[in-house]
Amino acid sequence: MGRGVVERLEDRLASNRRGGGEDKIERQHAQSKLTARERVELFLDEGTFEEMDALVEHDCTDFGMQDRRIPGDGVVCGHGRVEGRPVFVFAQDFTVFGGSLSHANAQKICKIMDLAMKVGAPVVGLNDSGGARIQEGVASLAGYADIFLRNTLASGVVPQVSAIMGPCAGGAVYSPAITDFVFMVEETSYMFVTGPDVIKTVTHEEVTKEKLGGAMTHNSTSGVAHFASRSDTECLAHIRRLLGFLPSNNAEHPPVRKTDDSIDREIPELDAFVPEDPNKPYDIKQLIRLVADDENLFEVHEHFAKNIVVGFIRLGGRTVGVIANQPNHLAGVLDISASVKGARFVRFCDAFNIPLWIVEDVPGFLPGTEQEWGGIIRHGAKLLYALAEATVPKVTVITRKAYGGAYCVMGSKHIRTDVNLAFPSAEIAVMGPQGAVNILYRNEIRSADDPEAERARLVKEYQEKFANPFVAAEKGYVDEVILPRRLRRKLIAAFAVLQTKRDNSPAKKHGNIPL
Ligand code: HXC
Repeated sequence: MGRGVVERLEDRLASNRRGGGEDKIERQHAQSKLTARERVELFLDEGTFEEMDALVEHDCTDFGMQDRRIPGDGVVCGHGRVEGRPVFVFAQDFTVFGGSLSHANAQKICKIMDLAMKVGAPVVGLNDSGGARIQEGVASLAGYADIFLRNTLASGVVPQVSAIMGPCAGGAVYSPAITDFVFMVEETSYMFVTGPDVIKTVTHEEVTKEKLGGAMTHNSTSGVAHFASRSDTECLAHIRRLLGFLPSNNAEHPPVRKTDDSIDREIPELDAFVPEDPNKPYDIKQLIRLVADDENLFEVHEHFAKNIVVGFIRLGGRTVGVIANQPNHLAGVLDISASVKGARFVRFCDAFNIPLWIVEDVPGFLPGTEQEWGGIIRHGAKLLYALAEATVPKVTVITRKAYGGAYCVMGSKHIRTDVNLAFPSAEIAVMGPQGAVNILYRNEIRSADDPEAERARLVKEYQEKFANPFVAAEKGYVDEVILPRRLRRKLIAAFAVLQTKRDNSPAKKHGNIPL
């Protein structure tokens, strides 16, 4: 073994670990950001990181770049373990040329993506970059496109997670956008296609980076991001928690986690959980927590379209994806944002063998010109399409309102849902009693001696006929009307029998979901 070679290797590896040097590392820390290497070490199970391509350097010779080479070239790549399971990771190193993407550094990212696809393991990208390496021109753009292609091909095969932990601008945003889940760190990260300066020139709007594309903007307004964290450390812990619910790839089932929470646990407080007054709100998240193993709900997209709740729970140790109308927000109505949020979540679960629990209390689709002109027809159809297309086990529970088109959409029997349960408080009808009576009995009410008393009488009559689960149960559209206290055991029994479910859709290249 040549001594010289070992020394040179050690020199290069030391240079790789130093990245852009002490002053740049200090600057990173001063901005409350960890370095790429610190992030990777913190993210993976201790001591499991195996770095790849630590010695890769760029081959650019323009703008004096031949004299500015750092082994690793601005991205830390490799694999390690999260709760003992393999995960591939890349972390852009802002201390090296601002984490900018050179052609060499793109090829490093592509290499681990290709390997992740071959072995069937998730890919986690920690983004912190000034974008395309300006000195390299089109070679850098080619690198981005190489990554975009792999993001697309990996979609639905292995879970892909992006964390935005610094700048992410221009076309660079489209890699995270294709991945399944986007995490952002408050105050230190931003994403936009064009920044504040260009916007000022083009549209004369003045906006800060944070307002334009910060964590809360993308979590609550645009819906581009699914999670907001207060620090790098919290963000990395959240990603670990998410991965714990997911299978490593689309050929596997999610991992089973042992629990002491009994599968027979009754929940007496659920019997009176849904208010008798149909206009009174309640918190569906609380209901979901009460049912879940150890009352644990991992909510996704918490700050966006709060009228629908999506997230992961475990039932009897097995992962279940939940999609639920939220009566606490806009009465749980379906609007454009809620439909899109729900549809994307359902498609993720279906792609990765995660059974779906649909919790329904929905007064219908939101009326208004804003919604109609914004395309609620097209966007609402996404949720319908996604739920109808899904072949994973599907169980729907109607807690209260299931009105109109929303009844069909929210996991009705007719779109091949496997088990449909209803609380005694369920109201399954074409519309709410007031609206129905106003249309059916307009003339009778108008000509009555006391129109209001007549309206009230007719509303009561309608409620007695339709504001209950019996008509649907008589037709077999609801399989069972259950005592709410039994919900947990009923769900666990349903998902247990559905574990071996097989269902297919007609052979095709791919469907044409109304995008
Ligand atoms: C090469 C870059 C770089 C880049 C930053 N650096 N961005 N080097 N290519 N894209 C270098 C800087 O020269 C500097 O080097 C170091 O990284 C740190 O950058 P600073 O500017 O000192 O940091 P900061 O003040 O924090 O500002 C960060 C920044 C800014 C806002 C990201 O650097 C910036 O605006 N960069 C350019 C962004 C951009 O226009 N990128 C191209 C976008 S188009 P030294 O040696 O001085 O420390 C794009 C297209 C993608 O990305 C298309 C995909 C299809």
